[in-house]
Amino acid sequence: QWIYLNGEFVTKENAKVSVFDHGFLYGDGIFEGIRIYDGNIFKCKEHLDRLYDSAKSIMLDIPLTYEEMQEALVETIRRNGLRDGYIRLVVSRGPGNLGLDPKRCERAWVIIIVEQLAIYSEEAYRNGLVSVSVSQRRNIPDALNPKIKSLNYLNNILVKIQANLAGVGEAIMVNSQGYVAEGSSDNIFIVKRGVVYTPPCYVGALEGITRNAIIELCGKLGLPLKEEPFTLHDVYVADEVFFTGTAAEVIAVREVDGRVIGEGKAGPITTQLLQEFRKIVT
Ligand code: PDD
Repeated sequence: QWIYLNGEFVTKENAKVSVFDHGFLYGDGIFEGIRIYDGNIFKCKEHLDRLYDSAKSIMLDIPLTYEEMQEALVETIRRNGLRDGYIRLVVSRGPGNLGLDPKRCERAWVIIIVEQLAIYSEEAYRNGLVSVSVSQRRNIPDALNPKIKSLNYLNNILVKIQANLAGVGEAIMVNSQGYVAEGSSDNIFIVKRGVVYTPPCYVGALEGITRNAIIELCGKLGLPLKEEPFTLHDVYVADEVFFTGTAAEVIAVREVDGRVIGEGKAGPITTQLLQEFRKIVT
């Protein structure tokens, strides 16, 4: 396995970051999770747009142009000989001193890791996941804007811990006003009477690339879609619920907080969207 580290390719054992790196000390940095399907980088432009937007928002200078970053991704995939897998692209503020001031960090560090991906079983896609809502709240844009895909994932990790304690694979986060936001690392959709709903990002959701691809697919398939806030009640009484994410793709949810969703398996619209999604990824 070859890791891209600031323009060089090093082995996993030699891929090391300083203890003074502000990504490590403060979570000061950004990242992307990207899929490779059959040798192609899925939605490369969308991921890089989000990365460069996140960087601009937090005043982080990425030391590579957009084109150089694209080439670095392609070269890392080539070196690792992967046709299908997952890319983790990280840009941290870089090494500085112990103060949190980013002025002390000379140069951002760029790291690209590509790996095989452990995905859900086909059985899980057919039958859906069991999920729960958690007490951990999603921040809304009054604090750190959820559109920034930052290295600060502690809130999401606390959600994951609650999911683990409940014995489920993904949990549902609501915001401080009680509106459903997203999962620990997935966006959420519900379907009611043939209409597909997903929360607008301002309630506290990452503007997911998979989410946007599904919104686009709904348009193409003539499925009515509304981006509007909804509550856990709406989730409980939905006909279908599903999560979307780079790793998860489109995964049905069959039960939430003990309430069986629809028929208790992947519903027809979720199944159709998963099938159509799999057609566009290659
Ligand atoms: N997840 N919400 C959060 C908090 C996320 O971390 C992610 C991405 C998503 C889905 O976004 P996208 O469709 O762009 O992956 C939503 C990790 C990185 C992943 O699934 O790989």
